[in-house]
Amino acid sequence: MALTAAGALAAGMALFMTAPAAAGTTLGASAAEKGRYFGTAVAGFKLSDSAYTTILNREFNMVTAENEMKMNATEPQQGQFSYGAADQIVNHARSRGMSVRGHTLAWHSQQPGWMESMSGSALRSAMLNHVTQVATHFRGQVVAWDVVNEAFADGSSGARRDSNLQRTGNDWIEAAFRAARAADPGAKLCYNDYNTDNWTHAKTQGVYNMVRDFKQRGVPIDCVGFQAHFNNDSPYVSNFRTTLSSFAALGVDVQITELDIQGASANTYRSVVEDCLAVARCNGITVWGIRDSDSWRASQTPLLFNNNGSKKPAYDAVLAALNNGTTPTDPPTDPPTDPPTDPPTTPPPGPGGCTATVSVNQWTGGFVANVRVTAGSSALNGWTVTIALPSGATVTNAWSANRSGNTGTTNWTNVAYNGQVGAGQFTEWGFQANGTAGSLTPTCSAR
Ligand code: G3I
Repeated sequence: MALTAAGALAAGMALFMTAPAAAGTTLGASAAEKGRYFGTAVAGFKLSDSAYTTILNREFNMVTAENEMKMNATEPQQGQFSYGAADQIVNHARSRGMSVRGHTLAWHSQQPGWMESMSGSALRSAMLNHVTQVATHFRGQVVAWDVVNEAFADGSSGARRDSNLQRTGNDWIEAAFRAARAADPGAKLCYNDYNTDNWTHAKTQGVYNMVRDFKQRGVPIDCVGFQAHFNNDSPYVSNFRTTLSSFAALGVDVQITELDIQGASANTYRSVVEDCLAVARCNGITVWGIRDSDSWRASQTPLLFNNNGSKKPAYDAVLAALNNGTTPTDPPTDPPTDPPTDPPTTPPPGPGGCTATVSVNQWTGGFVANVRVTAGSSALNGWTVTIALPSGATVTNAWSANRSGNTGTTNWTNVAYNGQVGAGQFTEWGFQANGTAGSLTPTCSAR
């Protein structure tokens, strides 16, 4: 059932904004034109390297701390938390208008020594306390968390990886997600893994089945991270787009979280970008480092910049793909239990301002609403959408938008990477709610 309602066209207040890079000239600006972000992993000790920060500040609008938010860095002694290194990265990023992905709250690797030797209920409690404390510290500062990292085994089993965390009980992952939601309801909660790019692989299917189960049981998960470390042993595969779109159809966002490609083939980088742009709920791409010398796999020269900071052919291919890409074209994704919805019929661009249309997938007891914001004849630098929810409907999670209110009249505003919408272009976001949607009539105003 697709509900459409033209929103009000309103002349928004001009926004005072620092002059963004000209559209199409940097990775972040070009991605933002398509309602996406383009990010990089950042090593805190390199923020004193001006060549490093010149590229970082110019090219990227999303940052992931490469090591500084991990369990051993943030809780080196049990109950003693240390955030200085991570805060430095977060402050650098956010003071320059970049968003931040948190990485990672619960992982079998890079645990502090005191945690590695724990087991059972004591370890479960310690892990949940870690998740709660760290997510609380960064509350409001990160747009997404890799809540759990690499919990599935490599190979043909499709089973969970054996780890001290897995041995506390199979429900450790959902417990971590619930704790993260309670600590930071505004962050998108992601499961992140590698070698989950090939749709036919057992590990990919194992993660898919877990995410489907979580969505059906209402476990708070909003996105899946695909690390996308491609090399000769684990090459890029042409069904990667099938993987991304299949996960998105479960009602989660997908994010390419740690991209690097052995040899940095321009064609392969182009393919990855085109795969993301082809999937409406692919929020963006993060490369795992800036220059080849910054890479954990430096000898494979897998990144977009040479050691001297010059752009490689892969950079040019990525920028061209971002600029030639299309804005989300897929119809809104559907949870697997409902018949597909029709894509919203977007009214023609008006004289200015914006319009909002909504497509609802209703099931017994809940629904997902996908909202499309379309700019009028003038580009948008930000938008606000108001949606009056019927009695009994309560928002349980949302993606690619900030919200105020979970019931009644709700107000939604753009996040960092989807406020800029070209004239006549659109960006999409959505939310999940308990209850019945009824007939939603969103109104849109330019900010
Ligand atoms: O900070 C210490 C330093 O004090 C010490 O002198 C030095 C030598 O032992 O080690 C330094 O710590 C290193 C750390 O990176 C910071 O540079 C660790 O040894 C080293 O193991 C660690 O490697 C990181 C790796 O994760 C650990 O698993 C890489 O930088 C980082 O890029 C990599 O990132 C992971 C993602 O988090 C998850 N997905 C896979 C990805 C690649 O492994």
